[in-house]
Amino acid sequence: MNFEATAGGALRIDGRATAKDVLVRLTTEVSSLVAEGARPGLAVVLVGGDPASAIYVRHKIRACDRTGIRSVAHVLSAATTREALLALIDTLNDDDEIDGILVQLPLPPQFDSDEVIARVRPDKDVDGFALRNLGALAAGRPGLVACTPAGVMEMLRRYYAQTGGDLSGKHAVVIGRSVTVGKPMALLLLEANCTVTVCHSRTPDTAAHSRRADVIVAAAGRAKLVKADWVKSGAVVIDVGIHRQEDGTLCGDVDYLPVTHVAAGISPVPGGVGPMTIAMLLDNTLRAYRARRGAAS
Ligand code: GUN
Repeated sequence: MNFEATAGGALRIDGRATAKDVLVRLTTEVSSLVAEGARPGLAVVLVGGDPASAIYVRHKIRACDRTGIRSVAHVLSAATTREALLALIDTLNDDDEIDGILVQLPLPPQFDSDEVIARVRPDKDVDGFALRNLGALAAGRPGLVACTPAGVMEMLRRYYAQTGGDLSGKHAVVIGRSVTVGKPMALLLLEANCTVTVCHSRTPDTAAHSRRADVIVAAAGRAKLVKADWVKSGAVVIDVGIHRQEDGTLCGDVDYLPVTHVAAGISPVPGGVGPMTIAMLLDNTLRAYRARRGAAS
């Protein structure tokens, strides 16, 4: 699979095609495990009726079905108690058939997300949100890495493999400092030998930092924040944002069309980081399976 040029000239860093590639590899790996009588399993927990969360969970389950990973969905009502949710997590922690546990966020307001995430066994934490996994990432040690930043790294690796360049030594600017994306993203880019700048809502002049970047990862959660004049000619831009516009269409944190005329590579929305997040969740499930049940399989 090769990325193709947009009308503006930048290469389109196609997350949908990349995710499909990853899923094909995972399908092969899972089928050889199945031939040996084993099957990795993922439990997805959804609490409450948030419509966007229900759609995300459906996509995750469907991707499991396609790759042969066993999925179990636990859909709980918004009236579920803290005790009931923690008890379910305990059951899943102890279930030998379950290799990964994902609690879809956001949780209804009566829950403390930190407490719920902390209850998931770190070796089944396929979201990579547990403190042990975040700490391992900070220390450059093996662990489960959050799916969205892991997906961005896979897209960047493929982009540089195709163009003959090297991510090492690049100046990367991450816009956003969330625990789920911005912070692990910065750590992964550091591990890949980038010089990393993290900008956030209190940064006085994010545009000035962005203009100096070889690589921009936009994860601010603000529609079309990154304009063409924020992007150096030849920069590579990955867009983690997703927003519903007034006309019903989706856009990201990057003003896509104008930026395609300036950047050397850019990921679209939709069809960029979103599909990669799901692919990396399944990749993490297989990693958790291998780590837990031994490298023998
Ligand atoms: N809600 C939105 N994105 C995510 C994610 O990556 N993991 C979980 N658990 N919930 C989410």
